[in-house]
Amino acid sequence: MKLKQIADLFMVKRTIGNMEIKIKGIQMDSRKIEKGDLFICVPAIEGFLEDRHLYAADAVKKGAVALIVERDVPIDVPKIVVKDARKAMAMIASHYYDHPSKAMRLIGITGTNGKTTTSYIIEKILADNDFKTGLMGNTGVKINHNWYSTDINTQEPPTLQKNLRTMKECQTDYCMMEVTSQGLDMGRVSGCHFRTAVFTNLTQDHLDYHGTVEKYRETKGLFFSRLGHTYQPNESKFAVLNADDPSFDFFKKQTTVEIITYGIDNEADVMAKDIVMTLNGVEFKLVSFKGEIEISLQIVGRFNVYNALAGIAAALIEDISLENIRDSLYDMRPIGGRMEAVDEGQDFLVLVDYAHTPDALENVLQSISEFCQRNIITVFGCGGDRDVSKRPLMGEIAGNYSDVVIVTSDNPRTEDPEKIVRDIEKGIAKSNVTNYQLVVNREDAIQQAISMAAPNDVILIAGKGSETYQLINGTKFPFDDRDVARKSIGFSMVMN
Ligand SMILES: Nc1ncnc2c1ncn2[C@@H]1O[C@H](COP(=O)(O)OP(=O)(O)OP(=O)(O)O)[C@@H](O)[C@H]1O
Ligand SMILES: [Mg+2]
Repeated sequence: MKLKQIADLFMVKRTIGNMEIKIKGIQMDSRKIEKGDLFICVPAIEGFLEDRHLYAADAVKKGAVALIVERDVPIDVPKIVVKDARKAMAMIASHYYDHPSKAMRLIGITGTNGKTTTSYIIEKILADNDFKTGLMGNTGVKINHNWYSTDINTQEPPTLQKNLRTMKECQTDYCMMEVTSQGLDMGRVSGCHFRTAVFTNLTQDHLDYHGTVEKYRETKGLFFSRLGHTYQPNESKFAVLNADDPSFDFFKKQTTVEIITYGIDNEADVMAKDIVMTLNGVEFKLVSFKGEIEISLQIVGRFNVYNALAGIAAALIEDISLENIRDSLYDMRPIGGRMEAVDEGQDFLVLVDYAHTPDALENVLQSISEFCQRNIITVFGCGGDRDVSKRPLMGEIAGNYSDVVIVTSDNPRTEDPEKIVRDIEKGIAKSNVTNYQLVVNREDAIQQAISMAAPNDVILIAGKGSETYQLINGTKFPFDDRDVARKSIGFSMVMN
């Protein structure tokens, strides 16, 4: 593409140098520049991103042939000066890759928790119904059955649009995309043509970035308001909203598109009734605008009923039959590290979950308490060099829901693990639990929990999920909660 074609996208701009040159790619990260690329100098975002104008010289040295800037820089290559380089980046990326999202049905999932799970549920249902599917989120990007790793959840436009373009070339019918609030705030999904926007829930997380809950909610609301204001024939758009979430009314007002609601407690278009939770999963009667059917899930927890309902609503919009949805959900297995059961034939349940915030921990424990018939044993820790205030809060929550708590380490980084554990203990002291232990070594802590479990107990190992390392003092030691649990169960079965 010629640089001139890019300059023509903007009404107000200043061009410097030869606009006839060709560009071979778009990049905002100078480390990834390839010869012939256009480098976009996005401005700084305090605490998150450095001013990329400072990297322009480096980018040019590595092969960038032109720059998009907000202010002129003393570098002798063709430049386009724009008012908003971030917005320009989304526009350029979308044009450069020829608006790939229009070639498929794009389903975006936003919310504090459950984005990955819900996107996997929708993807499974659609793939089981012979559609070609793609996925984008923090577990990676899946294009045509191949997985690619990613460093961030919702990607920046140059990568995001490029991936969509590859999906288009593979004739992908549907792409499920996790849409984070940071991604929305930074305009990463601007230029994406969404068919359906799904909302899971909103709790007090990510306030380090957004400041207040109101601002956080407002940012999430952008996803629904940006679905558009026109009613094009053959271009129906939908918002799938959680009728039980306190922010439901707020999101309802944000959008002009048709809303499909789901819920358990409040009246909704897609509802779960007569819920029965067991150690192995959940059963419920699905009551929907397309009819009723019994659903059996092999994934545990009330919150997964919500994720399933959100996924079902999105699938019903695509006209998938109730029977096919039921069959697809029946053989759905937990996603790695999200309420993942470690089953070595033992007579108690071991769940590994990625909950690492007070809210997530409470949610998970609340869910477990709904089906656990005997004791709950919780093993968890808090990361070092991160939010200190959550330590006692998580201690108190763990204590209030568990019969036994084993406090341990979770990526202590450069902090003293003993101190982190003692910070957590302060919260436990305020809770109802009397039976708790501090076991700094995570492997010992897991072994300890397993050695004390009785039939029908539930052990929750929280915080790391599918992480495969433990960060101690700058070193990444291999560590996988599931492997450690598996080994410990094997050992304890031999001993008994
Ligand atoms: N609907 C839900 N409501 C509350 N908590 C949930 C819900 N779904 C999942 N969780 C909790 O959040 C954890 C992460 O789930 P998941 O990966 O699906 O969420 P996510 O929104 O993709 O998270 P991230 O922001 O890290 O990408 C789960 O392990 C579980 O503890
Ligand atoms: Mg996710």
